[in-house]
Amino acid sequence: MFISFEGIDGCGKSTQARLLADALRAEGRHVVLTREPGGSPGAEEIRRLLVEGTGERWSPETECLLFTAARRDHLERTIRPALAAGRTVVSDRFADSTRVYQGAARGDLRGIVDRLHALMIGTEPDRTFVIDIDPPTAVARGHARGGIENRYESLGLGFQQALAGGFRALAREYPARVRMIDGSGAPEDVAARVRAAL
Ligand code: TMP
Repeated sequence: MFISFEGIDGCGKSTQARLLADALRAEGRHVVLTREPGGSPGAEEIRRLLVEGTGERWSPETECLLFTAARRDHLERTIRPALAAGRTVVSDRFADSTRVYQGAARGDLRGIVDRLHALMIGTEPDRTFVIDIDPPTAVARGHARGGIENRYESLGLGFQQALAGGFRALAREYPARVRMIDGSGAPEDVAARVRAAL
């Protein structure tokens, strides 16, 4: 199975991806826990270009190309080989992030995002969990986390609110694949909701 986690910055999805991977491993499954942008050596190099620097460093169109290049490498080098070997893949973000960040919130580029996806990726996860959290809470967490990977956090609360709306719309667009998970409360409580939905 190929499972992805999605949501706005600071929603807790990385913790949830790790908790699910740990729980599946404890049941004896072989799990590859990976992330985007990144997840392969080449894609990790592209990641640095994308998440560091100022908010306006790249246009939304250029971002689409860079995220798609990184995703293609991740798919070729990490995801497809793992699935072919019978492993479970848990990815912290995948193509839905491009649909929402570049396709809806950064620019109105959904048509371009969809065409690039069809041309170069053409794969969807079997299940996607969107960790749904109140944007001000997530923004506060993001600032508490600090670090240099804050290019998208630096775009502010209004941007995170647009993203949250974008992820909810995505769940309506793909009801068979995408599940909204209430992200409030302790990480273990959220993990139990993910497990029940899975
Ligand atoms: P992360 O903080 O979840 O590791 O993701 C890095 C940033 O990249 C995050 O702010 C979301 C953004 N992003 C996009 O804008 N489009 C994409 O396709 C992906 C995968 C991430």
